[in-house]
Amino acid sequence: MNKTILITGGAGFIGSHVVREFVLKYPEYRIVNLDALTYAGNLENLKDIEHLHNYTFVKGDITDQHAVLAIFQEYQPDGIVHLAAESHVDRSIVDPMAFVMTNVIGTVNLLNAARIIWKDNFEGKRFHHVSTDEVFGALGNEGYFTEETKYDPHSPYSASKASSDHFVRAYHDTYGLPIVLTNCSNNYGPNHFPEKLIPLCIHNILNNKALPVYGDGKYTRDWLYVIDHAKAIDLVFHEGKNGDSYNVGGFNEWQNIDLIKELCKQMDEKLDRAKGSSAQLITFVKDRPGHDLRYAIDATKINKELGWKPSVTFEEGLSLTIDWFLSNQEWLEHVTSGDYKKYYDNQYKDA
Ligand code: NAD
Ligand code: DAU
Repeated sequence: MNKTILITGGAGFIGSHVVREFVLKYPEYRIVNLDALTYAGNLENLKDIEHLHNYTFVKGDITDQHAVLAIFQEYQPDGIVHLAAESHVDRSIVDPMAFVMTNVIGTVNLLNAARIIWKDNFEGKRFHHVSTDEVFGALGNEGYFTEETKYDPHSPYSASKASSDHFVRAYHDTYGLPIVLTNCSNNYGPNHFPEKLIPLCIHNILNNKALPVYGDGKYTRDWLYVIDHAKAIDLVFHEGKNGDSYNVGGFNEWQNIDLIKELCKQMDEKLDRAKGSSAQLITFVKDRPGHDLRYAIDATKINKELGWKPSVTFEEGLSLTIDWFLSNQEWLEHVTSGDYKKYYDNQYKDA
């Protein structure tokens, strides 16, 4: 095998799609998936590829600097694709320190380990940091986030991701570490953990439970099918310009309430339920504190420079996503048993 690529957080939602993309597309690479298997990490996400010769799983916590260095020394990765993170905004409001630990300290541990094993000889090496559009803050009704937009994070989650982005750039500017960053909008698709809006609503419709809409439901997000994000990461990792960041988005803005209505419509059709029955579950609940009004990505740079664009429309992607959840209800049962119930009952007391 000609290269070792270490992917962190590869048992999570997006990470598992990135691992699959790399393992299948590059049989000549050894892909090492480093993941702590928190509540969000699930090896069931990788069942179809775990037997392949170029795939290795390593259980490890990126907040543990000694463990991280030992793993880097053992596997000697040529490239890092860093996705491991605490990723849910609502959880960051309850427990910000977990986000500082994994998203900030964990990222710095990886940067240090990369410097140490590469001995500041960076030929053929690359550190790809996967980040979010939330670092840019909130837009009004107009405008887009570009790569030049100033950082203005509001939630503990986005503040921790912004901090990690700054550390990655600082290691490039200070030590010459070869880096690329991607800042992506909201993903959806297979394996999405049901604490997030779309899979939470799919799960609740299946169980005839309330669909909790924060505030007036007019908050706006740009949604991208997860496999399109994985392909963008592959492209930027291999072809992105050293030191640059790339915005990745779906050109696909939805107000939450309209998105939920579209989801209800598709669910009614697929479940053969009376038209309008799922929408009756919509329940307006207390708003998220510090809720960002609107995110919208200008993905012109990655489109013009690297030729990337989304491959499916939102309606197609949503249909594929619902079909996946309907065919994988055992997966949904597994991830919503145990601790998820405690989290759900606490978060949605008034739903
Ligand atoms: P996720 O919560 O589904 O998965 C996170 C993964 O990281 C899990 O497998 C978990 O076990 C692992 N992990 C957590 N803490 C760890 C630690 N201390 N050590 C090792 N592994 C640990 O997250 P996701 O939605 O797949 O997001 C992946 C990355 O993409 C994150 O960095 C996130 O900020 C970024 N991102 C997510 C979205 C989105 O819409 N979900 C959009 C843009 C960017
Ligand atoms: O923009 C990229 C980000 O998208 C990623 O960096 C994050 O990791 C990811 O979690 C996601 O953050 P959001 O906060 O936008 O996603 P979430 O699915 O939690 O919420 C989407 C919108 O729906 C948001 O406006 C809040 C709202 N919402 C969410 C939940 C969970 C509700 O109205 N009700 C809910 O129960």
